Amino acid sequence: MILAIETSCDDTCAAVVAPDGRRALSNVVHTQTEHARYGGVVPEVASRAHLERLDGVVEKSLSDAGVSLDEVSRVAVTTRPGLIGALLVGVAAAKGLAYARGLPLVPVNHLEGHVAAAYLADPELEPPFVALIASGGHTSLYTVDADRKMHLLGETLDDAAGEALDKGARMLGLGFPGGPAISRAASDGDRDRHDFPVGLRDRDNLDFSFSGLKTSLLYKLKAMDREQLQQELPHLAAGYEAAVVEALSRKLLRAADLHDAPAVVVAGGVAANASLRRNLEKECASIDTRLIVPPPDLCTDNAAMIGAAAPHSRAIAYPEYLSLNARSV
Ligand code: KG4
Ligand code: ZN
Repeated sequence: MILAIETSCDDTCAAVVAPDGRRALSNVVHTQTEHARYGGVVPEVASRAHLERLDGVVEKSLSDAGVSLDEVSRVAVTTRPGLIGALLVGVAAAKGLAYARGLPLVPVNHLEGHVAAAYLADPELEPPFVALIASGGHTSLYTVDADRKMHLLGETLDDAAGEALDKGARMLGLGFPGGPAISRAASDGDRDRHDFPVGLRDRDNLDFSFSGLKTSLLYKLKAMDREQLQQELPHLAAGYEAAVVEALSRKLLRAADLHDAPAVVVAGGVAANASLRRNLEKECASIDTRLIVPPPDLCTDNAAMIGAAAPHSRAIAYPEYLSLNARSV
């Protein structure tokens, strides 16, 4: 069994994954609530919360899976990219576990982890495919080749999609994280009532831009008083969300077309968005392309996806892994 640990941002996560990386036996996520009152993740607070929680989360992942440490054959851990202090807590814990049990350590890139969630969602899935990662820190398009290597096709020139949703939610006075908050507020809104720009919409590339969308919301809000804002809130949220969904869908479908992809994978926290999922289901059905979007709990940060990436990542033996370091980028 693979024991996987993920602490790159504000979720303290551990999971037990089958040796082939195709099935999670447990997937424990402790989402830190400490950050809500700051409206964003505070790195030092995140590191300290990981330190307090990680032991308990690892223990729970083993007991949920009904697996003892004797049955674990390697330890996988996110080493990059992410908040450096937060990553270090996971890496140190993984090294400790590997050393104590005489196990190899598998460093996993968080973004490769997000894509690997698709291998859990669809145990038959094999590359090549085109993948979109849309999270709080990244918005990028890749082709994934037959060796599971990822090749960057395009990325955001400014904010990530999740970041745009988080900032938009903050401007609208909604909660954090912003993605789910905007979705809830948008549920009975009219998305066509306000005109929001879709960044790089007609540009012949595979990049994204969300800064214009954010500015557009800012100007709309400046022109409204409190009462108008209350009235318009669902429509503003719906229009804002729809602009993000359209930007992501458009570029993903363009990439699939350009690369003649038999399948597309959508990963990262924003892939949990119901409106994006619905839109892509419809679009992919119409062009006869297979769509794999993992269930929401495998889209947002979790350790099962890190375990799923491990069988295809290089395992490092003792004492080599002692010099392994976390990296923010
Ligand atoms: O992948 P993730 O959990 O963490 C990072 O690696 O960043 O993504 C977090 C992002 C946040 O910006 C959050 O607002 C967004 O994913 N998100 C959503 C939803 N759930 C989380 N965005 C839209 N709709 C959702 N249901
Ligand atoms: Zn993530």
